[in-house]
Amino acid sequence: MMPRRAVPAASQTDYVATMQPDFAHTPVLLDEVLALAARRAPKRIVDCTVGGGGHAAALLQAHPQALYLGIDRDPAALGAAARHLAAFAPRVRLVHGEMGDLRQVLQDEDFGQPDFLLADFGVSSHQLDVAERGFSFRFDGPLDMRMDPTRGCDAATLIARMDVPSLAHVLRTLGDERFAGPVARAMVAQKPRTTFALAELVRGVIPKGLQKIDPATRTFQAQRVY
Ligand SMILES: C[S@@+](CC[C@H](N)C(=O)[O-])C[C@H]1O[C@@H](n2cnc3c(N)ncnc32)[C@H](O)[C@@H]1O
Repeated sequence: MMPRRAVPAASQTDYVATMQPDFAHTPVLLDEVLALAARRAPKRIVDCTVGGGGHAAALLQAHPQALYLGIDRDPAALGAAARHLAAFAPRVRLVHGEMGDLRQVLQDEDFGQPDFLLADFGVSSHQLDVAERGFSFRFDGPLDMRMDPTRGCDAATLIARMDVPSLAHVLRTLGDERFAGPVARAMVAQKPRTTFALAELVRGVIPKGLQKIDPATRTFQAQRVY
């Protein structure tokens, strides 16, 4: 289990410092989430993937009695959430952690029994749009792809440690990549360190004109999931 840190809304400067000014995310299915919550009038809301706090702000606004526990593995997201939720700070607790550790987080925070739980899986727009995060082939940046850059190693290091069969398995099963074998062989030979290097490598291996999407799409999807 990873070590966790509570992040008081709009206070801890180390988290706020990692925040990007352009952190923006349009919450998905917001009306549906609000409609579900309205039926329950929740008092203790747990958000397992608080991100920049889009759903959180709307739920806190709609339920003025509710306490809110927001968890995210991405410190930059928590910084953004802290700023975005500043007006609700007395009712908000933000925790740097894994949704898989939810039971332990609830215990550590002494939060009581939640009566509404939200999990909005996936990457955030922020993670995809900031070059330094290395999630997207649209921008050149280090091949990182960690949601939590404080832990583990980046994607470039992981790739450099893998052999062709295991890399091909990842590309095939997590990216549905038809050319998994040739792409994996090129990755193992060239050990790309940047997003553009990986994208160019894939484009050089996959025959042109076979698909409408950028040939690098499936490889990036597989690496993000992995
Ligand atoms: C789609 S965004 C959430 C956006 C948020 N609902 C909002 O309205 O701003 C998904 C978030 O889940 C976080 N995340 C993904 N997997 C996680 C995990 N296993 N534990 C904790 N957070 C996770 C990501 O870091 C990201 O910030």
